[in-house]
Amino acid sequence: MADLPRASSAALTLVHPTLAEKKHTWTLNSQSWGTALAVDDYLERESYLASIPATRDGGVTHWILTDSTAPAESRPVLACCESLRRRAVISLPGSPTKEVITHGIGSVFCPPAYRGRGYASRMLALLAPILKTWQKEEGECYFSILYSDIGKKYYAGLGWDVFPSAHISLPALAAPVTNGVTTNGTNGVTVNGTNGVHKTKAGARTLTPAEIAPLCALDEQYIGTAVQSTAKHMNKPAVALLADYSTMEWHHLREDFMCDKLFQGKVPTIKGAISSGDKGSRIWTIFTRSFYGPLQDPKSGNVLHLLRLVMEDEQDTEENAQKLKSVLEVAQREAGTWGLAAVEMWNVSPVGKALLERTGLEHKAEEREEESICSLMWYGPGKGGVEGVEWVANEKFGWC
Ligand SMILES: CC(C)(COP(=O)(O)OP(=O)(O)OC[C@H]1O[C@@H](n2cnc3c(N)ncnc32)[C@H](O)[C@@H]1OP(=O)(O)O)[C@@H](O)C(=O)NCCC(=O)NCCS
Repeated sequence: MADLPRASSAALTLVHPTLAEKKHTWTLNSQSWGTALAVDDYLERESYLASIPATRDGGVTHWILTDSTAPAESRPVLACCESLRRRAVISLPGSPTKEVITHGIGSVFCPPAYRGRGYASRMLALLAPILKTWQKEEGECYFSILYSDIGKKYYAGLGWDVFPSAHISLPALAAPVTNGVTTNGTNGVTVNGTNGVHKTKAGARTLTPAEIAPLCALDEQYIGTAVQSTAKHMNKPAVALLADYSTMEWHHLREDFMCDKLFQGKVPTIKGAISSGDKGSRIWTIFTRSFYGPLQDPKSGNVLHLLRLVMEDEQDTEENAQKLKSVLEVAQREAGTWGLAAVEMWNVSPVGKALLERTGLEHKAEEREEESICSLMWYGPGKGGVEGVEWVANEKFGWC
């Protein structure tokens, strides 16, 4: 290792990996992120996830830090990561709200043999200003984001400020028996075999994949409005990623891939739940099942994540509490059906918390300190940071 370049060397450069280099790094980092899957399945997932609508044609960009003086065929991958382009909205006080883009950095990795030499830091220091204008033909970029799994210090030191990273978890409920039909899945998990639309007593019903796109389109408007009013009331820049269909589809194709592998071909057709009520009074959620480790191991932390929770009429009323309860119970039962320990919802609003109290559902609030720390680097006017910028709708759908 004596001949490794210094992290500060002018010879280090940020470039895009070849397919062989990508496969090499996926093999190495499968030990960090692929523990729920066999290595071959993990490699297949990473290739697949780079080819779906949200990521193909430049939606994802892979980056490596390497030595520009090394021969191309044997250059070292000193560190690597990827950036995903996402649609976002921004409102600067006094200016109209506008659609922009952001880049979410994911899969930051340094091969074990090269760690502790500053390579990942150097890679991120080079990447940060590049992202400000990366793919600028797609829109302006006022900020980049990432979700740290290594606590709050490392990325903050590089300029990605820590933002609220709280969640509320609810226990999974025993799986339902619908029309007396259940099919026993593998690994002792009972998977509902009807694949139909289910209704709870209180009126919430499940959402099928075909129903997600129109709800996302409506939600894009709601998020735009929320960003605008937040900037106005707080007199500071407000931003949000758009919970658009492409983003939800990215999560759901990832989920389908995982379930297909883990449950021998079974793929969930329930992607969310919606309460009763007319347009303007409904509560809905779009969710995904997240697998981090072996199904049987409670330490895996496999959970059902609410990607987004929408309350069309965000008021603390008993009626809304009943709607929320019925929606959450669908999520809790889905968690039970797929062998997940809990339901997690990120950065719940004050009204959402008040409604949750009214429901009487057992739940636990948690401030994350190590994993999925929501982090944002601000490129716009003003000082940025949690004091300077408001991150609206900072929910799981933004994770990458
Ligand atoms: C995190 C990682 C990318 C750092 O790469 P690196 O090139 O060694 O990082 P740098 O040399 O720039 O910085 C080293 C610092 O990273 C920080 N760091 C590394 N791993 C950390 C962890 N698990 N928790 C907290 N801090 C960590 C430490 O501050 C460390 O300082 P130290 O050497 O004094 O202990 C690398 O350890 C890795 O690939 N880990 C496995 C995958 C992973 O967790 N990626 C991050 C996902 S958000």
